[in-house]
Amino acid sequence: MNREDFPMLEKEYIYFNNASTAYKSKKVIDSIVDYYNNYSVNINRGIDSLGYSVTEKYEGTRKKVANLLNVKKSEIVFTRGTTDSINLATSYLESILEEGDEVLVSNEEHHAIFVTMQQLCIRKKIIFRVVDFEDLVNNINEKTKVVATSHITNVLGKRSEIEKISNMKEKFNFLFLLDGAQGIVHENLDLEKLSIDFYAFSGHKLYGPMGVGVLYSKHFDKMSPITFGGEMVDIVDTYETTFKKAPYKFEAGTMMVPEVIALGEAIDYILSIGYEKINSHIFELRKYLIEEMKKIEGLNIYNEEQIKSNLITFNFKGLHSHDIATFLDKNKIIVRAGHHCAAPLMKKLNEPSTIRISLGLYNTLDECQKLVNVLKNKEGYLDVIF
Ligand code: ALA
Repeated sequence: MNREDFPMLEKEYIYFNNASTAYKSKKVIDSIVDYYNNYSVNINRGIDSLGYSVTEKYEGTRKKVANLLNVKKSEIVFTRGTTDSINLATSYLESILEEGDEVLVSNEEHHAIFVTMQQLCIRKKIIFRVVDFEDLVNNINEKTKVVATSHITNVLGKRSEIEKISNMKEKFNFLFLLDGAQGIVHENLDLEKLSIDFYAFSGHKLYGPMGVGVLYSKHFDKMSPITFGGEMVDIVDTYETTFKKAPYKFEAGTMMVPEVIALGEAIDYILSIGYEKINSHIFELRKYLIEEMKKIEGLNIYNEEQIKSNLITFNFKGLHSHDIATFLDKNKIIVRAGHHCAAPLMKKLNEPSTIRISLGLYNTLDECQKLVNVLKNKEGYLDVIF
């Protein structure tokens, strides 16, 4: 992995919070600068040649995303991020679900799924069924109208039984909404083969820019827009308006053009290295960390067995996760501490918070060794706390 590709790595920090947001490659940053320096105009507006070339680049990213997921361009909508995508998908669920229907989620979901589904159920008087992550598949039945879960969970790094759930759709006839924010970092699902109704992810966890996300669906033609304004319309008359076809009817107003274009660069970057190479590097580092961290007295790891993951979640007996994170920060090591937007999971673990290490493609064994050495330094914690 070429560390020179990432300007942030020149800073003095060791960065282990990649699941929150990953560093951006120089190509991604240059692409945004290039937009503002050299062709800073809007898409689809007017018939000038600059506008035309920007539109081509913007639509080029849509093609790259469509290729990545093996779907059609018209099945890809750009949003602000995963949360935004899930909320757009939810607008469709809201339009078809009826009182008494059941929405099934697990107790290990990120709030983007959990709270959005919970609030949908409150609004529509739908049954909100929360089950243990491990029991999700066993709880799908005739009453299930929606299964909403994560491709890979954001704290423990568990992969959902995506193929099984997809296969059960024909029998039970439910809609399957998958949050791909953490999963897209490890694999590109073949959405033509799998039966997934909605798939959402963000650019910024995929080493791309913030402010851009993706929603995939085959239901767009049946869905109504939820944001109205310029560019998404076909004919506007005094008392009625017709809308463009999908995906354009969902992209109202001025979009985040440079970020969408830069997302295309991020996808190219990932594919130029290859998921396989990225994963094997990250899983090796994780293996090393787990082996070493297990030896540290009082350190309790919650997801040792998730070997194909970039996440390690742990606590120290008798110490608050924030104190550990502060101590690591004093040693120029950045991790995440808190509930990680997954309060139901914290309840399950019976902890108010945890510390999470999330590895990225540029992390090194040397960085992991430094982390282990700092974690071993018990006296240091006491200096921070008292
Ligand atoms: N969803 C991001 C995380 O898990 C912010 O850290």
